[in-house]
Amino acid sequence: MIDLVSEIRQLKKQKNATILAHYYQDGEIQDLADFTGDSLKLARAATKVETDTIVFCGVHFMAETAKMLNPQKRVLLPDMKAGCSLAESCPAAKLDRYQQMLRENGRRFQTVTYINSTAAVKALSDWIVTSGNAEEVIRRVPADLEILFVPDRHLGQYLEEVTGRNMILWDGACMVHEIFSVGDLLSLKKKVPAGITIAHPECPANIREHSDFIGGTEAMIKYVSGFAETKDFLVATEANMLWQLASKHPRHRYHPVPGISCACNKCPHMALNTLEKLRDCLLNGTPEITWQPEFTKAREVVQRSLLN
Ligand code: 13P
Ligand code: SF4
Repeated sequence: MIDLVSEIRQLKKQKNATILAHYYQDGEIQDLADFTGDSLKLARAATKVETDTIVFCGVHFMAETAKMLNPQKRVLLPDMKAGCSLAESCPAAKLDRYQQMLRENGRRFQTVTYINSTAAVKALSDWIVTSGNAEEVIRRVPADLEILFVPDRHLGQYLEEVTGRNMILWDGACMVHEIFSVGDLLSLKKKVPAGITIAHPECPANIREHSDFIGGTEAMIKYVSGFAETKDFLVATEANMLWQLASKHPRHRYHPVPGISCACNKCPHMALNTLEKLRDCLLNGTPEITWQPEFTKAREVVQRSLLN
């Protein structure tokens, strides 16, 4: 393992590459990265990279977004099969038909799309949001228009609550956040009575209503940093986030909220990226995200929404 880590460090220099890693990657991958972050921070970091190559340790839609924002750079993803249940739940052709049906029925709306979506879906959208900027972007949608929010119905429902805007919600969900067990959360609360529960807004309402704080991964880091004394946090998001929280704020104790079938809850897509695949992808310059025609329109929407 030590050899593999030093091999990756060496290859990174040799190949003039920058590694970006999402907080849901294994700790050992986050440790090797030049930048770690949530979806918003990584999309913004991708625009500042100076090397010719970006290796994106995350899932496909994230690497695709990095490519859109850097047409001239080579963007690599250690495993091309690293997808996302949210992106899968909203095929572009289906969204296109649905939007047409709404228009034919005289509905005046804008489409607000969570970044966890394909480039083809982004190209059909008016706005792209992440967990880090969704409220702010939604406030930019003219009040006389309806909002079609895709693809995460839980995040959409949460945003309805915090912004007071009713939305037409697409029926998608994150397979990781959807399966947190309320029963196990309540038992954990009994075991750790002073525990503070923090939950990602991709969690369903039954988890959010038992939480003290709701926010994306970057917001969670900021929230725990505000507690000077040691605290116990019950964390309802992908389990690798605990590594990032513990490395930034080691004075606290972190407890994963269990999924219905496991003691903690890991994203099987993120887990496809391993140290071996990271090494191979640096070595071989593949798998590579190549420019697709729909990136041109998608890029415009992403830039307007995330970079301005
Ligand atoms: P954030 O890190 O942007 O909160 O997103 C969570 C997520 O599910 C990424 O796939
Ligand atoms: Fe997609 Fe959920 Fe995995 Fe994030 S954690 S990549 S939303 S399946």
